[in-house]
Amino acid sequence: CVGIAKLPKETGNFTYDPGFTATASCRSAITYIDGDNGVLLYRGYPIEQLAKHSNFLEVSYLLMHGELPDAKQFSDFEHEVTHHTMIHEALKSFLQGFRHDAHPMAMLAGVISSLSGFYHDGLDIEDPAQRRLAAIRLLAKMPTIAAAAYRYSIGWPMRYPRNNLEYVDRFLHMMFEVPSEPLELPPVAAKALDLLFILHADHEQNASTSTVRLVGSTGANPYACVAAGITALWGPAHGGANEAVLKMLEEIGRPEDVAKAVARAKDKDDSFRLMGFGHRVYKNFDPRATIIRETCHQVLKDLNVDDPLLEVAMRLEEAALKDEYFVQRKLYPNVDFYSGIIYKALGIPTEMFTVMFAIARTAGWVSHWLEQQNDPENKIGRPRQIYTGADSRDYPAKG
Ligand code: ACO
Repeated sequence: CVGIAKLPKETGNFTYDPGFTATASCRSAITYIDGDNGVLLYRGYPIEQLAKHSNFLEVSYLLMHGELPDAKQFSDFEHEVTHHTMIHEALKSFLQGFRHDAHPMAMLAGVISSLSGFYHDGLDIEDPAQRRLAAIRLLAKMPTIAAAAYRYSIGWPMRYPRNNLEYVDRFLHMMFEVPSEPLELPPVAAKALDLLFILHADHEQNASTSTVRLVGSTGANPYACVAAGITALWGPAHGGANEAVLKMLEEIGRPEDVAKAVARAKDKDDSFRLMGFGHRVYKNFDPRATIIRETCHQVLKDLNVDDPLLEVAMRLEEAALKDEYFVQRKLYPNVDFYSGIIYKALGIPTEMFTVMFAIARTAGWVSHWLEQQNDPENKIGRPRQIYTGADSRDYPAKG
């Protein structure tokens, strides 16, 4: 019997950085964040200016191509996206395979992952034209699949995309329209949703985008990469926070119970956290939260919604911003603190909140994937570890 050599405890010099707080995984020219000063730029343009002057599809073009489109480029891009909004008819049966009460994020991840089995002409990732086709398909089909998942969950038949409508309007029609009653949407609804989509479109190397890139680094197809991004987004510490915020506000219930919630969030023996507060990068106000906060009030006013949860949210924000615990740790409201209230006012059910985020973030995911595929420095993502297990040992003799 040959003994096995003992492994040295230290197997090399690695940077130990759990959570990648100080590790850049790539170079990227897409999004810039200055977390200390609350700055967010897409391709150099401040988020505040894009929120004011642009729309989601134009922002998607910007993220993908690096420059804002001129009128002709925008109209061609819109045409291209619109051309791909339909989904393969067999995908309907795929959706129907889910239990009726499946979470729409589970359906979204499953159906997006399955697209590689339906669209084979976007799978040659060596071919720039095919890469672009897959990116456009993802952008175009995501709202169709999201709305179909929602309708399936409530037992309604899927609604085909109405391609004479604009991106966000088309999505709202697919979600809510019923054959007998043409949907009359107040313009503020589509405008608010478009704004939320702009604000959520990209955020550099967040967990879901890093996941897309990690999977992309292996040469996996773009549908698989984006499906992985969707599952990473689902977690409550990331995109699932918008759903968790609303549940938390409902649980708090009354403005007078806000103090109790704040006390619980500070208690280290209690796992309760203030959802919608804190951010890995922003140690100042999240600029997206500042924009959303204003919009939230406007939308509720325009839609004539009197939501007591807004009062709870405002009291919570006020209490946390004055509290030493939150001040010291620089825990400010993040983008998801207010987005859930807007979604609720638009009639979007809570389980769909993270799906909304996924539709918007698709623009960022595909832009990062395209950038990565063009990057000569791209290599398979393969982190190392600090091994803490047993030393090498012999299998025990039996009997
Ligand atoms: N409520 C109470 N305490 C908090 C909160 C919170 N929401 N967030 C952080 N803390 C505390 C931590 O307990 C920790 O305290 P300690 O120093 O006494 O141990 C300190 O603040 C630092 O927190 P970390 O978890 O180390 O910060 P990290 O950067 O790893 O996490 C995160 C950031 C995940 C966003 C965190 O703040 C959190 O869980 N927030 C709530 C969930 C949420 O809103 N997520 C959405 C993020 S935005 C997005 O993905 C779109």
